[in-house]
Amino acid sequence: MLSTKITCNKNYLLGEIDTRIYGSFLEHMGRVIYTGVYEPGHKEADEEGFRGDVLDRVREMGVTAVRYPGGNFVSSYHWEDGVGPKEQRPKKLDLAWRAMETNAFGTDEFMRWVRKIGASPIMTINLGTRGVEEAANYVEYCNFPKDTKYSDLRREHGAEKPYQIKMWCLGNEMDGHWQVGHKTAYEYGRLAAEAGKVMKRIDPEIELIACGSSLSSMDTFPNWDMEVLEQTYEVIDYLALHQYYGGQEKGTKAFLAQSQDMEEYIKTVRSVAQVVKHKLRTQKEIKFSIDEWGVWAAPSDSVNREIEKVPWQISPAISEQIYTMEDALLFASMQMVMLRNADAIKIACQALLTNVSACIMTEAGGGVWLQTIYYPFYYFSNYAKGVVLESHVSGSGYDCESVGRVLYLDTVTVWNREKEEIIFFAVNRSEEESMQAELRLEGFAPSGVLSFIQMYAEDGKMTNQYDHEAVIPKEADGSVLDGECCTVCVPPLSFSMLRISLHN
Ligand code: AHR
Repeated sequence: MLSTKITCNKNYLLGEIDTRIYGSFLEHMGRVIYTGVYEPGHKEADEEGFRGDVLDRVREMGVTAVRYPGGNFVSSYHWEDGVGPKEQRPKKLDLAWRAMETNAFGTDEFMRWVRKIGASPIMTINLGTRGVEEAANYVEYCNFPKDTKYSDLRREHGAEKPYQIKMWCLGNEMDGHWQVGHKTAYEYGRLAAEAGKVMKRIDPEIELIACGSSLSSMDTFPNWDMEVLEQTYEVIDYLALHQYYGGQEKGTKAFLAQSQDMEEYIKTVRSVAQVVKHKLRTQKEIKFSIDEWGVWAAPSDSVNREIEKVPWQISPAISEQIYTMEDALLFASMQMVMLRNADAIKIACQALLTNVSACIMTEAGGGVWLQTIYYPFYYFSNYAKGVVLESHVSGSGYDCESVGRVLYLDTVTVWNREKEEIIFFAVNRSEEESMQAELRLEGFAPSGVLSFIQMYAEDGKMTNQYDHEAVIPKEADGSVLDGECCTVCVPPLSFSMLRISLHN
C-alpha cells in the first residue's frame, strides 16, 4: 500500500473560498437550453416551460452562479432577439454552432430560471460582431431602474424591478480563431475597455470580467493576457481563464497529471497580472474567473456530429459526452487546483450544466440522469466552504513527461469555521494501489468523524448511463482518529471526502 502524509496547521491559511467558484454555465449550444432546462410540454415542466426535474437536480448540486448565454454562441448573438412576446421573436442562424436559434429562451427567461435555483447570474456581452452601444443598451435593459428606452422595455416585458446583474463578461474567447469576430489582443483589449467604461457608467456596481486565454495551450498565451490586462486593467475586476482537458488516449497517469498543468497555468496568469500591476504603477489587484472549465471526454458516436456537415437544425444533439470514473477524478483535481488558489480565484463555471460536457443529462420528453462528474462537484459545492488550509504533503509519486513529478494522492483541506469542521478531499491517481493517507491537523482539536465518502469503480473506464448508476459515491469505513491525526485508506482511482468535527 502507498502512503502520504499531509500536515495542516491552524495558523497557516491559503485563502477564503468565494462560493461563486461553484458556478456553472448555460449556453445556447446543442441541447443545453432546449430540452436541457427548457422544455414546454414536458410532464415535469412548470408554467414557464422550465423542467422541474432539472431544477431539483441543479439545486441539489449546489450551483451558486450561472454564466449565460455563451460561449461561442454569444459572439454573434443579438440579445434583443430573445426578449418580448415569444411569437414575435425572430428565428436566427447561430453562427457558432451552425444551428437554428428560435429565441424562445432569452434574457428574461434566464433571469427567472436562475432565480428559481437561487444562483447569481453572470451575463456575457457580444464583442465579436457588436460593440460598445449594444453592450450599454443591454446593461440599461437589465439594470437601469426606469424611464429610459431599454429599462422601460424590460418593464413592459414584465420585470418591473431591475435585475441588478452584478457580473458581466466582456465577450468570450476572443483569442480563438474559431470565434466569430476573433480579434488581436490589442483590438479586443481596446474594445473591452471602452465597452466596460460605459457599462460601469450605467451601473457602477457591476463587476467586469475580461477574456484571458482560452486554453493554456494557446500559442498566444501568455502574451494575450499581458496585452489585454494592459489595455483593460483600470476598468475590469477579473481576468477570465478557460481550461478543458481531454487526452484520455495518453494513458491514465498522464491524463490525471494534467491538473498540474492547470496549476502552472494559474501561476503564470497570476504572475502576468502582478507584472502588469507594477508596469501600470497601480495598487489595484486583479482577481480571476475560471469561467469555463471541464474535462473533454470522447463524445459517443450516436450523438456527436460534425457540425459543418449537417443541415441547420434547432438544438441538434452535439458533444454529448459520457464521463468515466477517471474523467471524474481529473475533474475533482481541477476543482482542488482552484481551491488551492482560493485567494485569487473568485468565480468559476463548470461547463456546461446540461447535456453538453455536462454534469446533468436529460432525455427529451423523459427523465434525468447524473454523470460521474456530478458527484465531485456536489461534494465540493456543498461542503468545501470556509478557508483553505495550507498543506505540507509528502508521499509517493510518479514522473510524467509533460508536467514532471506528480504525487499519487492529490488533496485539499478546508476549515469551515462556522460549522467547526475540517473537510478533507483526496484523489488517488494510482491505478493499482490503495493509499494510506495520514492527515495531521496541528492546533485543531478533532472530536470525531462526521462522514467518510468514497467514489470508485471496478474499472476506471466505467460510466453512468440513463437508468444505470454504476459509479456513485458511498459511505466508507475505516477512518481512525487519534488526537490531531486522522488516518484513512483510499482505494486505487478513487475520490474521497472526509469530514471531521472539531471541539469548540
Ligand atoms: O463547449 C463550450 C464552448 O467551449 C464554448 O462555447 C466556448 O467558449 C468554448 O470553446
